[in-house]
Amino acid sequence: MANLSTKYMGLNLKNPIVIGSSGLTNNLANLIEMEKNGAAAVVIKSIFEEQISLETEKLMKDKDNEKIKDFSASFGNYENASDSEYYEAYSYILNHAKDQTLNDYLKFIADAKKAVNIPIISSINCVSAYNWHYFARKIEEAGADALEINLYILPSNLARSAEENEQVYFDVVEAIKKVVSIPVSLKLGFYFSSLGQSIIKLSKTGVDGLVLFNRPYTPDIDIDKFEFNAGNITSHNYDYAQSMRWVGILSGRLDCDIAAATGIHDETAVIKQLLAGANVVQITSTLYENGYEQIKKIVDGLENWMKSKNFNSIDEFRGKMSQKNIENPAAYERVQFMKLYSKIE
Ligand SMILES: Cc1cc2nc3c(=O)[nH]c(=O)nc-3n(C[C@H](O)[C@H](O)[C@H](O)COP(=O)(O)O)c2cc1C
Repeated sequence: MANLSTKYMGLNLKNPIVIGSSGLTNNLANLIEMEKNGAAAVVIKSIFEEQISLETEKLMKDKDNEKIKDFSASFGNYENASDSEYYEAYSYILNHAKDQTLNDYLKFIADAKKAVNIPIISSINCVSAYNWHYFARKIEEAGADALEINLYILPSNLARSAEENEQVYFDVVEAIKKVVSIPVSLKLGFYFSSLGQSIIKLSKTGVDGLVLFNRPYTPDIDIDKFEFNAGNITSHNYDYAQSMRWVGILSGRLDCDIAAATGIHDETAVIKQLLAGANVVQITSTLYENGYEQIKKIVDGLENWMKSKNFNSIDEFRGKMSQKNIENPAAYERVQFMKLYSKIE
């Protein structure tokens, strides 16, 4: 029998299939099904700072809210308060709202730990350095096995330089690594002025894993209604190639593990990512499309392929096709279709 076990950020995994963060990982029954079908670890749904801010705003508007009444009793009517009083009121309510949402999230981590035996990776998506500290510590205390930072800066603010945008990633990792001892991964998008170099630098920050790459929400235009709508929510099975290229280029050059993500829908894509050098893969869209049985299909498919090639362990072939290990490293860098074009009429 082939041994599919592997390590990711120091976590011992029974195979390299990690379930990516999504609405599917926000529910205990789903986590149990994922484990039953062979998932090696799960990244639970991100807690979003926007979500917390929205709840805070709602709370602020809710004049009948007990906490606001409590606050008014002790500090007077916050609407007529001086700036400093208002500030105190605001931070009081803000912290209360934060705790409410966070407590639900923390309870979910603790419940998930009880419901399944596989590692539970928490996920946070924030935009402010202060909150990252706060959330990270609480998540560790709740029992998460690792923490994934979901940070995606769309460089759409035309007044901000590449350096300013990119510095945020370093600041956030530094802030979080300072306060937690569980492994920390950083899930990235493609938007860096010099992608390869930035990723190499990020791998040297002490981060334990890099998830390459997240797939952002992209708006689309309805040409009849002249409205915006959500673009494709799920990825296509050919979208793995972009991630595979960078996994292949960076494998063996980073000071941390790599989780390949986006467009990995079947065992073939998993095998390609492992050959390119990934430590694990994350899958999401394929579960929306094919159900949890797809996990078992992928794990069985990987094992059968290993047997057919006489590989006894993942380490025997991981990175075999990375840029460092192939005779023609340019294979990963070709971006023009010159040869292909000349053959296509
Ligand atoms: C419906 C849906 C919800 C998602 N929610 C999150 C999330 O909360 N946090 C996160 O880091 N990624 C989230 N993602 C992104 C996935 O984790 C994954 O990175 C992305 O879908 C690309 O992988 P895939 O091609 O296997 O789907 C979500 C994806 C989908 C489709």
